Order: sequence, then structure tokens, then C-alpha cells
Amino acid sequence: SEGTPIPQPPKSWLTGNLLDIDPDALLLSLLRIAKACGPTYKLQLLDEVVFTGDYELVRVLCDQTKFEKKIPRALMEVRAFAGDGLFTSFGRQEKNWNIAHRILLPAFGPLAIKKMQPQMMEMITQMLLHWEHHAGQPFEAAEAYTRLTFDTIGWCAFKYRFNLFHTENMHPFIEKMSILLAEAGNRARRPELLKKVMYRSEAEYWANIKILHDLCDEIVAQRRKNPDPEAKDLLNNMIYDVDPQTGEHLSDENIRYQMVTFLIAGHETTSGMLSFATYFMLKHPETFVKARKEADQAIADAGGNLLEIKPAKLVYIDAILKEALRLQPTVAVWTVAPTSAEGETLPGGYKIQPKQTVGVILPMLHRDPKIWGDDAEAFRPERWIGWNPPTDAYKPFGNGERACIGRGFAIQEALLALALVVNRFDLEMADPNYEFAIKQALTVKPKDFRIIARPRRGKT
Ligand code: HEM
Repeated sequence: SEGTPIPQPPKSWLTGNLLDIDPDALLLSLLRIAKACGPTYKLQLLDEVVFTGDYELVRVLCDQTKFEKKIPRALMEVRAFAGDGLFTSFGRQEKNWNIAHRILLPAFGPLAIKKMQPQMMEMITQMLLHWEHHAGQPFEAAEAYTRLTFDTIGWCAFKYRFNLFHTENMHPFIEKMSILLAEAGNRARRPELLKKVMYRSEAEYWANIKILHDLCDEIVAQRRKNPDPEAKDLLNNMIYDVDPQTGEHLSDENIRYQMVTFLIAGHETTSGMLSFATYFMLKHPETFVKARKEADQAIADAGGNLLEIKPAKLVYIDAILKEALRLQPTVAVWTVAPTSAEGETLPGGYKIQPKQTVGVILPMLHRDPKIWGDDAEAFRPERWIGWNPPTDAYKPFGNGERACIGRGFAIQEALLALALVVNRFDLEMADPNYEFAIKQALTVKPKDFRIIARPRRGKT
């Protein structure tokens, strides 16, 4: 019983469906194929991969007894520098994932995140100053927010200042990391043999990885030499906290991999979300007005003390973030495979082979009119007020025990940043005729979206 045949675009005997995918626009390719084949289909890439955005199927894919996270080829390449850090690890099968998960879950918990508000606010304040200095000059939203999210994760996770609002060029660490992430994608599409003969890019790859690791190792060594119990950062948790189950500590090597992981996982995802949220607010000015009213009130309630702002009061801004991640999830696809050696059959009778990769296409799942209604394509933060979507219909942070550990961190940072931005600035699009487009690397962001900020003039 091989089940119902899974739709597939016509494939070439030599390249399968590889040419159906534009590596620089993976998401758009997947959405285009869905238009022709329906919400569930398979592609013959280097392996055969099934894709779906169908809610009925996704519900089963989210059942952790039947499916588990799969590390696809591109993430296997990222393992060269993120190692067995949480994001690229094999989960339960890998001892260090279990230990790190137990140690880091409380370190990323609501209480710990709350304590990070002063560190987060310090970085947001730097961004506000930077925008004031550049008042009236167009700048790219995603780039500005990336400076914020990088600075914030460096400062909150291990008290390291990348100082991206004080330097013209990105920090060398960040340059190397972007190169490595792009290269990991290229390598995933390159046969092993070819890798071996490309000496130059191979040597450069490993040299760049060494630069990343050396900086992390240096930070850990410094902290061990000069303990800083007052630093309420994740590095202290990683060095000193003990796994309650095994009594073990994280190794220095694993700490290094977690540091690289936080920097990778924590910057583009959050800055993309902030960029989309900003785009949607400018496209729908009534939402900007509401967000500003809410921010003004929260700041007034805090007596103007930014450290006393209660993120939980920013309900409408939270709805803006949720709605931005619904329409434009910055991690657009995540992948699972069956847990059982027999494979699994999905609704519709589609048979998934043992170990076969299944990709969940979030922008399709998140726009299903059966769940979101006839205005599924519209940006309407109000839909989130006093309403929650059905189980597994909204998955921008992944699923189950492999879901995003940094969710609370990202949301608090973004809530505070947006509140301060709308409170302090009048914003406009640099090009009033900007045509919305997305740009995709490991994550998705708006393409060439430039804005102009000016210190706020009016009361509203
Ligand atoms: C995992 C999205 C922010 C750290 C994930 C996954 C998604 C995701 C979809 C699951 C990936 C998969 O199944 O393969 C996002 C989004 C963010 C965000 C949309 C911002 C809007 C952050 C931040 C951090 C972070 C700020 C760290 C400071 C991680 C880690 C994992 C993860 C460590 C792996 C967890 C594990 O498997 O144990 N994220 N993320 N993320 N994220 Fe995030």
C-alpha cells in the first residue's frame, strides 16, 4: 500500500525538480508550485521532499509521537559552525540537546526575560538616538533593525557589545557569519566531490568558522577568569547552571555552539518581524495611530520611566506582531520526518516514507480562509483581540519541544522597540510607491524597504 499518489510537477530525468526551485527565492517557488499542484505536493530535489500548507495535514505533522524535527541539508551545513547547539541538534537523540534544553528553558522563561528589560532598553535607546541623528534621511528598515537585534542578543546573552550603532561597518563577526550562512546554503546544493575540489572556498569556509569560534571561546574564557555574578545574562546560566536531571554542566565547546546559535537564530528572525510590522503599519496608517495611542498610555502609566513599561499592556502592538508573523512568517518553512521506521500516512492517504523530509509552508497555512476567514489575506491586527486560532493553525515559532526557545525574548524586545518607535517618531516610506517584495536568505524580510523617521511633531 503506497497510498494516494502525491502530486508532483513534471520532472526531468536528469535534474528532477531542481530547476523548479529558484535558490534565491525558495518561498516564492514553493508558493508558485502550490498554485499548479495544490497545497500538498512532492519535489525531487537532491532527496525527495514533500511540502504542504494544508491545515488538516499540518495537524498530524505537529503530533510529536508521529513526527519529529528533521535537520535538512542546509541546516546540516550550518552544523559546521553551530554544531550541536539547540537549533541544529538532533533533539532527544543527542545528549547535549537534552542537557541544554533543561538548562536554557528557564533561562529563557518569562521571569528571566522580564529581568532583561533594562539591557533591552539600553539598546533600543541607542537605536532611537541613531534615528534622531539621521532624521529625514532614508534608511533600510531591515538593516536598522538588524543592528538592534544583534546588539541586543550580544548584550543580553553574554554582555558583549557589538556596538553596531556606533560603527559604519558591521562587526567582522557578523560579516563572517552572513558569508557562512549564505555559503551553507550553496554547499547544501553542491555534491560532496565538488566541495573537495573547491580548495579555495573550502579553506575560506573553515577560516571564517574559526574566527566565529575564537571570539566565542575568548568571551567564555574571560568570564571564567573574571566571574561576574551580577551579569544577568545567558552566559552565566550556561557556565554555572547544573542540569537537574544528570547533574552535569554544559561543556565549553557546547556553550560556544549555543552562542553562535543565539546569534544566528536571534537576529534576522526578529529584525524581519520588526520590518514587516513597520511596513504593515505604514501601509495601514490607522494601525499606526492605534499603536501610538497604546504606547503613549503605557509610557504614561510607567511615569515616563522606560524600565517600568509593562510589555503585557501592549496588547495591540502584540497583535500587530502576531499579524505580521501570520502573513510574513520570517522562518517560512520548517521540516519534520516520521518517527516510526514504517513511515506515516497523512490525511488524503499520502504515504510519507521513513526519514522522508516534509516541509510545512507557513504562509499557506497562515492564510487558509477556512481558519482565518474571507479576509485571510488582509492585515487586520484586530482579529487577534480576544480570539485565538485553533490548535496548530499558527506556527511561526515551530512546534512542540523543538519550538523556538527565544520566543518570549523576541516578542518582548520587539514590543518595547515598536512602542518606543511609534511614541518618538513620525515614519514614512522613503518611496511612497514602494512595491512590496520579499528577500530571502535563511529567513525572509521585505526587500529594499526604506523608511524616513522624523522626531514626532503632533500629539497623534
Ligand atoms: C527555533 C522562529 C527568535 C532561538 C525556532 C524555530 C522557529 C523559530 C520556526 C523552529 C525551527 C525548526 O523547527 O527547525 C523564530 C522567530 C523568531 C525567533 C520567527 C523571531 C521573531 C529567536 C531568538 C532566539 C531564538 C531571539 C534566541 C535568542 C531559537 C533556538 C531554537 C529556535 C535556540 C531551537 C530550539 C530547539 O530546537 O531546542 N525559532 N525564532 N529564536 N529558535 Fe527561534
